[in-house]
Amino acid sequence: MPQAYGEKFARIYNMRWSAFANRVSPLIRSFYEQKMTDPIPKTLLDLGCGTGKLALHFLEHGYRVTGLDLSSAMLAVARENAQEYLVEEQARFVVGDAAEFALDEDFGLVVATYDTLNHLPDLAALESCFHSVYEVLLDAGWFIFDLNTLAGLHRWGGVTVQDEPDLVLINRGVVVKEMRRAYTYITGFFRQEDERFERFDEVVYNTAFDLEAVAATLRQVGFSHVHFARVGALDVPLPAPEEEGRVFILAQK
Ligand SMILES: C[S@@+](CC[C@H](N)C(=O)[O-])C[C@H]1O[C@@H](n2cnc3c(N)ncnc32)[C@H](O)[C@@H]1O
Repeated sequence: MPQAYGEKFARIYNMRWSAFANRVSPLIRSFYEQKMTDPIPKTLLDLGCGTGKLALHFLEHGYRVTGLDLSSAMLAVARENAQEYLVEEQARFVVGDAAEFALDEDFGLVVATYDTLNHLPDLAALESCFHSVYEVLLDAGWFIFDLNTLAGLHRWGGVTVQDEPDLVLINRGVVVKEMRRAYTYITGFFRQEDERFERFDEVVYNTAFDLEAVAATLRQVGFSHVHFARVGALDVPLPAPEEEGRVFILAQK
């Protein structure tokens, strides 16, 4: 079951959920630029790029960026956000599935942030994604992504309500342990220019992957180095990643 975010949700996402991308972008860039030797290939592929906020940070620092996402609604917002870079063809945003894609360009850095790869249904899809990434990475290039862990997904259960003057958001979370899945049913009402409230509904699921299997699969695919880390210390390998709510995975070709 692929998950492409809808048009109304894309607009809300752009307004409300940019903080994560804004926070991690400079940290990922700094890690990558410290690891690569000069001249640093300033080419980025952003898988599940969403509304392009991470892409924008890299564009502002001179990178050529390809954003790939399953949702044409999210990509439409990304194109608006990065409009000036489209003109110069420094950026492009393409519809595609992170689980299986091919591109006509190689990249020094490939990223997938804010649970994007938790949206894949199983380890076979994740492995297929790793193969696709490996194919487009330059030698010694880096693949950096985050995952919610099983421990992290346990927090998804229950109902939360966010009540603001222009937006009411109701999140209903269901954790299905046996499937290692967490589902969120999101219903939102947001105020239009004519003062009416418009409703949208979205269902999102996250798959929790066994992290040892993730590392083993990356190595099988051919990555020469793999470690887990917290976002605030991407260089420091974590000894017990399953104890975290979310981890970053850093893999070098
Ligand atoms: C939680 S958002 C993260 C967006 C962005 N990376 C960020 O950091 O804000 C997940 C994104 O992944 C996209 N997505 C979900 N499944 C996908 C797939 N199989 N291939 C590509 N994109 C996918 C969704 O459309 C959405 O834009």
